[in-house]
Parts: sequence; structure tokens; C-alpha cells
Amino acid sequence: MKNIQHLIGEMTLQEKIDQLTQLAAPFFKGAEDAGAITGPMMNMEIEDDNIRNAGSVLGASGARNIKSIQKKHLAENRLGIPLLFMSDVVHGYKTIFPIPLAIGCSWNLELAEDSARIAALESAVSGIHVTFAPMVDLVRDPRWGRVTETTGEDPLLNSLFAKAQVRGFQGEDVTNDVKRVAACVKHFAGYGAAEGGRDYNTVNMSDRQLHEFYLPAYKAALDQGCKMVMSSFNIIDGIPATANHPLMRGVLRDQWQFDGVVISDWGAVKELIAHGVAVDKGDAGLKAVLAGTDIEMMTDCYSSYLKEYVENGMLSETVIDEAVFRILKLKEELGLFENPYRGADEQLEKEIILSGQHRASARELAVESTVLLKNEQILPLDCTQKVALIGPYADNGNILGQWSWLGSKDDSVTMLQAIRSKSENEVSCIEGCSIQEKIENGFEDAQQAATQADVVIVAVGEDPLMSGEAGSRTNIKLPEPQLSLIKELKKIGKPIVTVLFNGRPLDLRGVIENSDAVVEAWFPGTEGGQAIADLIFGDENFSGKLSMSIPHSAGQIPVYYNHYSTGRPKGAPDAQERYVSQYLDSPNGPLFPFGYGLSYTSFQYGDVQLSTNVLTQDAELKITVPVKNTGAIAGKEVVQLYVQDVFGEVVRPVKELKEFQKVEFHSGEEKEVTFVLTEKDLRYYHSDMTYKSDPGEFIVYVGSNSLVDSGESFTLK
Ligand code: BGC
Repeated sequence: MKNIQHLIGEMTLQEKIDQLTQLAAPFFKGAEDAGAITGPMMNMEIEDDNIRNAGSVLGASGARNIKSIQKKHLAENRLGIPLLFMSDVVHGYKTIFPIPLAIGCSWNLELAEDSARIAALESAVSGIHVTFAPMVDLVRDPRWGRVTETTGEDPLLNSLFAKAQVRGFQGEDVTNDVKRVAACVKHFAGYGAAEGGRDYNTVNMSDRQLHEFYLPAYKAALDQGCKMVMSSFNIIDGIPATANHPLMRGVLRDQWQFDGVVISDWGAVKELIAHGVAVDKGDAGLKAVLAGTDIEMMTDCYSSYLKEYVENGMLSETVIDEAVFRILKLKEELGLFENPYRGADEQLEKEIILSGQHRASARELAVESTVLLKNEQILPLDCTQKVALIGPYADNGNILGQWSWLGSKDDSVTMLQAIRSKSENEVSCIEGCSIQEKIENGFEDAQQAATQADVVIVAVGEDPLMSGEAGSRTNIKLPEPQLSLIKELKKIGKPIVTVLFNGRPLDLRGVIENSDAVVEAWFPGTEGGQAIADLIFGDENFSGKLSMSIPHSAGQIPVYYNHYSTGRPKGAPDAQERYVSQYLDSPNGPLFPFGYGLSYTSFQYGDVQLSTNVLTQDAELKITVPVKNTGAIAGKEVVQLYVQDVFGEVVRPVKELKEFQKVEFHSGEEKEVTFVLTEKDLRYYHSDMTYKSDPGEFIVYVGSNSLVDSGESFTLK
């Protein structure tokens, strides 16, 4: 066990400050690869000494590479302090799982946890110590490309997935388990609410909204023991998160008692200048470190300037010491002082990465993440049907999505490969058009193939780069050539199954009405093609449900299920037709609501029974509902429980998800599904920001999606 305080005592001031700096892999001697570079490589005044004393590395991978960097570093670092290696392993290392938004649609916490365990295992044997995940930003705006990285629009669902992912990455005991990695929850806080869905843009929200909707998932990750927090690029109440004292020291450190490491997002410390809250790099560094940001990622505002501030008395050395302590403590917890190479193991890398087992898990999660949006009795297909597979994703392995920088499209199973392995007939495959462009004779060839087929599968979507970081769009439709392709194919008159590959909810006008079945596959990962073929040929049943609403059009955004009540709701009994909250040219609600997804079987919900109509403060309310699989095949149903607080001291959401269960049923099977609510589940932030419940009336809804409208009421005493 290292005596960290003693070690800090031996460090010079500059060594301590450099320990707070994180640099990308190419800065280090012995580095083989450049890793994932997402932000601008700033003009950095980095000297050899700063590198020798740096605390952590961003974006390195590979056991041999990381060992080589660490070895050279230890030889040069005066006190032999090992580096921490951190990378973005967001939804898989080389075995790529579906994008997080898709994982949200699985509503399967065990599979999500297991995907994180596998991602941790593959990265740990490759030498990585910390992953910049889970990303838990709540989202309501599909124009924002980073909706791809989060599990969606609901605070409860996001919180449960946050915990599941932290459990998967860190296991029970990340200290002693070298096959796990430490997790870093991001982006604290509220990054998902960028105005207009434009990345890196202003966030403006009330404190209540922040606490009610946006903060719970970060808190949940920390309650699960998450070791690190990444600050976000955006402002919160006018102050960039990275320098936001009330947020970082107030909420995170004082209120939540978080004593782990806080890292800035890429370049976010220096961006305080562009935000106009710091006059220069030194000022930016000072403000960030005072707010409690321990590590500065990829700028030199700390390493070049903080020493001067300490020396001239404007910054207490204690602030630096505390930050260094947290970083060294994490190194100690990960056992790096005893074993600086931790889990890095070239032999294991060869054996386990992309193993059959890992692929099988990726396939299972892709099956459960895929959402069936429409099915006019066309799916499942029969393997004797003659299939024409058409579109830019027909035979395309680029289905891994953003943050799969170590995944290779050559390792992924394409739709064509998987469908050919199932179909008893020849499968014709035509690209038809590329993602953004028409190609010569593309439509003619596609139409001809369609003419000769029994059924047409159209595999279309966005390029992975059209979502993700810096991937905002105002038009969230499929690119025009692909919409035209679907329209042209429709003219042939054969049944059309459209399979969508995309990183955000799309505006599906032109897709839905021209397709007989629509499958939302998102970016499904390495085993994506296989999972989709399993589903469309009926070897597996659909069970995915949307974790983010799909709007009718971009003009409706934001559209989400748990919105506040308005004074003039549309459809209220005494509402006049014009003067209500509505659009003249669009419904208010989404095209497909939160919680929605079809199956090959059908589920019938019986009457909801409450154990009591009066819930007292220390008691439990048991809610039971019989659910029956009335179809001919087995299936899983996500049974969802929502609550409406009918009267509040402040305006309350029209409905809030409070619990759910994903239950498996044989054909014809009926099960009683039971939920329990207590007073704690009914608390909310009042006008003075106290978190408590109010006595009064509540309505409980149990159903298969957030539109469920017949509920049972009870009173809280
Ligand atoms: C992203 C983070 C990421 C970091 C390091 C930033 O640009 O916003 O999500 O973890 O880069 O790669």
C-alpha cells in the first residue's frame, strides 16, 4: 500500500501540476497508435518535462503498446509514478455492441451489464484502466447527434442503465479484479440539452428541471461506485460546467459527497476563454481547478500556468494537493503502484477479443435492442421466399456506430451474409444508391431485382458520421436518394420490409407509408446483420421498445412523453378547438411514443389491481396486473408502470415511468406481474427545491407503452 500523502510530499509543485494533465497517446515515447482523436489538437505549450510528469494518457490501446508507453514513462518519471490509461470504450472494445440508444431500447439491464463487462474485459487485457463511459445524458432532441451515445429520454431508465453499466465495467471490486476497468460517468451535467440540438451549444434550464430530469442518472452511476466524472462542454446557469463551482463543488462534492476524480472534457478548460469567462489560459486553469476539475484533458492551462498562481499566492497549494491526491488514490486503488501494467496481457488479448462468447452476447443484445415499428402481416419471412436485398446497408459492415473506434467493419456480419445463410433461395443484392448519392442505374437495377423477388428488404440509413459527436442535423430524414429508392421500389408492388440503420430517431415520413414492415435496427454492432436476420426470419422475436420518442417531424422537437401539463391541453373536455396547445399542421405527440415496439405475438393486459387505495407514509402499494401472451409464439414483453401526480405544488409531468419488468411468456401463458410503490417513489422537487411528496391523488398506469391511458387512482395520506 502506497503512502500517498508521503508521495505528494516528495513531489515538486510542477510535478504535482503535471500529474493533473492528460495527454493523448501520440505525445508519449513508445506509443504505437494515435487512438481516437475527437477534438482539435490544441496548440499546446507542452515540454518534455510535462510529458515525463503527466498523470494520464488518452486513447491508447493494445497491451504491447500500453506496456511500452508505461515502461518508458516509469524509466523517466523521477518518482516512478505510473500513468493511468483512459479511453472511450463506450459500447464495446472490439466486439461492438449496439449503440447505447439501442441498448436503452432493450430495456434489459442484465444484458447491458454484461455488454459492459465484456467491453471492460477486452479493454483491460489490452491495457486500459479507465473507460470514459457510461454516457448518461438525458436527451429530448434527436437533432443532437450524441443521442446515439445515451440510453434515452427517461430519468429512471437512464439511471438504471447507468448503474448496470457501472456494475459491468467495474464489477464488485475493480481494485482486485484486473479484468475490469474504472468507469467515468459523463458529461456532467445536462450536456444532452444543447439548444437546438446543436452540439457544444448553450444549455439553459431551470434548477428544478436539472434536478428532476437530468441529474438522476449521474447520481445513480455514482451511487453504484463509479470512480470518475467527466465535466461537460456546456454552460449550466451561465457558467461552463468545467468551471462551475455550484455544480462541481456544490452538488457533486458537497451534496453528493463524491470524492473521486473529475476530468474535464477534451479541451474544455481552455474553452473557458471562448465562452468568455476566462481572459487567458492561466485564468481558465485557475477557474477550473478551483471549481474542482482535477484533470485537464488535452490543454495546458494547468501545466503551463498554475505554478505561477500558487507562487504569487492566488491559488492555495492545498487545492492542487487535493486534486493530486484523488488521482494518485485512483492509481493506488487500481493497483498500479504494485503492477503498473495491471491486466495488460498480449496472450489473453488474442484469446478473448471477439471470442465466440462475446459475439454471442453482442448478438443477443442486438436482437433485444431492435425495435419493430410497423408490420402489416409481412414479417416474419419464410426462408423459402425469394428475397431481393436492396440499399446501401444491404452488404455493409459499417454498422457499428460512433465510438467504435477499435471495432472493425470487417469483423461485422452484414445483412447479406446473414440472410444468405438462412435463405433457401438465391438472395439478390443491389446497392441501389449510396447513403447520400444516387448511383448510375441504381434504381433500375433495384427495381429489376424487386420484380423477380417475393419480398424486398430495403436496408437504408444514415452514415455513422451523421450522428455522434459534432453530428447534429436539422433535417433528420433519410438522405433523399434513399427516400427515392424506397418510393421507386414501392411502385413494383412487392411487399417491402425496410430495415433502418441510424444513430438517432429519424423523421420517417416517406419510409413508413411506403413500407409494409419497418425495423429500427439502429447501429446494431458487430453481430448486427445476424441479429436482424434472426428477427426478420422469425428465429427470434422482437422485444425492443423505444427509449426515445420518434417524432413526426423535426418541427415538433422536443417531443417526449414525460412533459409537464399545460393550461390548455389539446383534447380536454372544455377545450376550444383553436386556443389550445397544439400545432395547426401536426399532432402534438410523436409518431412512435416512448416505450413502443411491436412483437410477433400479442399481449393482453387484464385489470390493474391495487392492494390499497390509500397509501400511508411507511406502507407499500402493491400493483398487480395479469398479462397474457395471446399469440402463437413465445415472446418477451416490457410491462411498464407509469404514475401521474394529479395535483402538485409545482406543475408535474403528465406521466412518469416508475417501474418496469421485461417478462418472458410462452405462447398462451398468463402471468401476474407485480410492482411495489412507496411514498419515496412519489417525491419531487418543490418550489423551494425540497424533495418530498405531497398527500393527494395519484394515477397508476400499467401498459405496453407510454400512451397507456386507463389508470387506477390512489391517495397518498
Ligand atoms: C468527448 C468525450 C470523450 C472525450 C475523449 C470528447 O470530445 O466529448 O465524450 O470522452 O472527447 O475522447
